[in-house]
Amino acid sequence: MASTVRNRITSVKSLAESPELTSIPPSYTFTTNPDDEEVVDPDDDPIPIVDYFLLVSGIPDQRSKAIHELRKACEEWGFFIVDHHTVPNSLMEKMVHQVFAFFNLTEEEKQEYAGKNPTDPIKTGTSYNASMDKVLFWRDFLKIFVHPEFHSPQKPPGFSETLAEYCTRTRKVGRELLEGISESLGLEGNYIDKAMNLDSGLQLIAANLYPPCPEPELAMGIPPHSDHGVLNLVIQNGVSGLQVLHNGKWVKVNANPNCLLVFVGDHLEILSNGKYKSVLHRAVVSNEATRMSLASLIAPCLDTVVEPAEKLLDKQRNPAAYIGMSFRDFLELTRSNNLYGKSVLDKLRI
Ligand code: SIN
Ligand code: FE2
Repeated sequence: MASTVRNRITSVKSLAESPELTSIPPSYTFTTNPDDEEVVDPDDDPIPIVDYFLLVSGIPDQRSKAIHELRKACEEWGFFIVDHHTVPNSLMEKMVHQVFAFFNLTEEEKQEYAGKNPTDPIKTGTSYNASMDKVLFWRDFLKIFVHPEFHSPQKPPGFSETLAEYCTRTRKVGRELLEGISESLGLEGNYIDKAMNLDSGLQLIAANLYPPCPEPELAMGIPPHSDHGVLNLVIQNGVSGLQVLHNGKWVKVNANPNCLLVFVGDHLEILSNGKYKSVLHRAVVSNEATRMSLASLIAPCLDTVVEPAEKLLDKQRNPAAYIGMSFRDFLELTRSNNLYGKSVLDKLRI
């Protein structure tokens, strides 16, 4: 059944747009209801906020305060909101608009990027990890490698220019945050940048589209997972659905479209020897409006072996908890894995 549906349906978007759709196909139906688990409001468990302006102000006292905020956020949540950052709201809005315009291209136009090869620099698709998913996820995606080599779809008009500007801006914010995070670990400011060889590092843009779902309580947008890179910077279109796991409970994230959300990735967990943990997160769907999220993932250079920072280790009291591995080999592991939870990172634990 699932493979028949997969062959027939090119995207959730086209499925959701069919006028006769009043229930979801069995291939999208989960038997465990995500709402059965405890979900809390951010008012009851406030998500940490890091003030970017303090971090880059050049005033030592202010920077120390921001570094303290970073340490606390990375240790206690692996997730935070960045305030007063330098990605203009107008650019975020333009990028969101362009991504919608991309998803609104015809299915034939998007098919050009439905590559079969995992190393294709631009890829569209549906579900989460389609070759492994037993039940399909209510999500379409567009993934683009934008660094060290910049790639972009040629359509819609203006997409490439907006994307280039957006990637440069988010990359700069990401690297500034990583400098502060290095210091928050007691390392040299440029330690992470150097250890990951970020000048030649990968940057991936992943756009997620979650069309309205007629039976949202039976479907799932994206399963609980952690992000593989170092840091992931995410924006959304103003429709909620993202939840992050904190102290064993799912916390709803408000859908403010001007908010920059930052996720600690698996490679920061490795480098910090588990002091900072990559955060589990998921996306639920709704029947009201289309949700879109856009991730800008900062990742290590493909051939650089990332391992726990020597300075943070102690043979007796804090031995290395992860084996070192190149990001290329890590990505190779992702191919044979279902990617749910922390299943890939778990393979590196000693
Ligand atoms: C992500 O998994 O990186 C983003 C999920 C979302 O907010 O849609
Ligand atoms: Fe993610």
